[in-house]
Amino acid sequence: MSNIVKIKKKIGNFKKTIIVPGDKSLSIRWVLFSSLANGTSKAKNLLMSEDVFAAIEAIKKLGIKVIIKKKECKIFGKGIDGYKYKKNLTIDAQNSGTLGRLILGLLVNSPEAINLVGDKSLSKRDFRRVSDPLSKFGAKFKLRKNNYLPLTIYGSSKLKPIKYNENKGSAQCKSSIIFAGMRTEGITTIKAKKSRNHTELLCKHLKLPISVKKNKSFDEIKIKKVKKIKTLNYDIPSDISSSAFFIVLTALSKNSELIIKNVNINPSRIGIITILKKMRVRIIFKNQKTYKGEKKADIKVVSTKNIKAINCPPELNSGAIDEFLVIFLVAAKAKGVSYFSNLGELNHKESPRLKWAENILSNLGVKTITTNDTIKIYGKPDLNLDFNKKITIKNYLKDHRVFMTSLIAALSFGGKWTIHDKDSINTSFPNFLKIIEDLKK
Ligand code: S3P
Repeated sequence: MSNIVKIKKKIGNFKKTIIVPGDKSLSIRWVLFSSLANGTSKAKNLLMSEDVFAAIEAIKKLGIKVIIKKKECKIFGKGIDGYKYKKNLTIDAQNSGTLGRLILGLLVNSPEAINLVGDKSLSKRDFRRVSDPLSKFGAKFKLRKNNYLPLTIYGSSKLKPIKYNENKGSAQCKSSIIFAGMRTEGITTIKAKKSRNHTELLCKHLKLPISVKKNKSFDEIKIKKVKKIKTLNYDIPSDISSSAFFIVLTALSKNSELIIKNVNINPSRIGIITILKKMRVRIIFKNQKTYKGEKKADIKVVSTKNIKAINCPPELNSGAIDEFLVIFLVAAKAKGVSYFSNLGELNHKESPRLKWAENILSNLGVKTITTNDTIKIYGKPDLNLDFNKKITIKNYLKDHRVFMTSLIAALSFGGKWTIHDKDSINTSFPNFLKIIEDLKK
């Protein structure tokens, strides 16, 4: 089957209700926490994608039994010290930074050396951000060029608690340290720049010995050694990062309206909503509920005619970190010049995303000025491409968000698009194209 998608026509108007798959951050965390629990945990609506399957494969290699039946996943945890460490074990994190970085925190006390490998994209991403703090606990690392995968971790039986200043705003780094802190006698303290807080909320829900003191731009987290973890039955809410593509498609389409059911709206994840509302996109939350410490709601969005440019406050960045590529499409159609700053972290994702933003926007005929960590977008409220305008998107390290953003751009602005590497969506959102087809019906 072809791995290329061709789009020749904008999407027509639609009025629909959709469901997107389970949240990826929560799915991977559920797998890891459940692997340490005493007994059987069950999840419904677990994201069935390559990144989550890689997490499942990883805990299976560590001796944990997993059964997936229809829509339910069961993990048979053997307690906090229940992993089996075989000699010459290699864990493959594939495309997943979250899995690769979080699992290292759980391996700090491994009696055997463990290798961690990943795909081409993950092998270009920085692992020093976790090997540095985890080394302070007492684990040792060998990394390719001191920075990259493949790496080997050598655990220690004499871990010492650490005090760490996490200043990148990386939830993966923070979570990895929390996991290592769970394995270490004494109190580990992390001063962490704001980032998604699913790990802390799960720790609290499981009544683990964690405390979080919130300040304006950072949180102070203290975690002690964990003796026992309860099983965790979880009905995983839908992913706001997957919803983002449809929120933007609706905002940019004419006479359309969309409801996305049961989405996780953790305040540390809804930067896209705050940003788009500032740009005058009409979005509301309905049926808000709290579930196991997390918030969820149905999201309603309608087409927006007069989109306004934004000077985006950098404090909104961490809550929208995965959504900037699609947010830039909204800026492309806004009246005025939008400006986004402090976005250096975007170049540490599955692909250098600021470069890809520039590429996609220039294909749309939208002027941008980019630096290492800023982008200025000169919006065109009448943006509409000639049906003959040919655009090809390829060689983007299979970054699923580049694929999906290009597709939303094609459906919103027209042109004749050839988008390669359709299989990139399998890492996080396998039924993305199916939902697009449903919207066209
Ligand atoms: C994630 C954290 C973010 C995000 C990624 C998922 C997580 O990465 O971009 O998609 O689940 O913890 P960083 O920690 O590198 O910011």
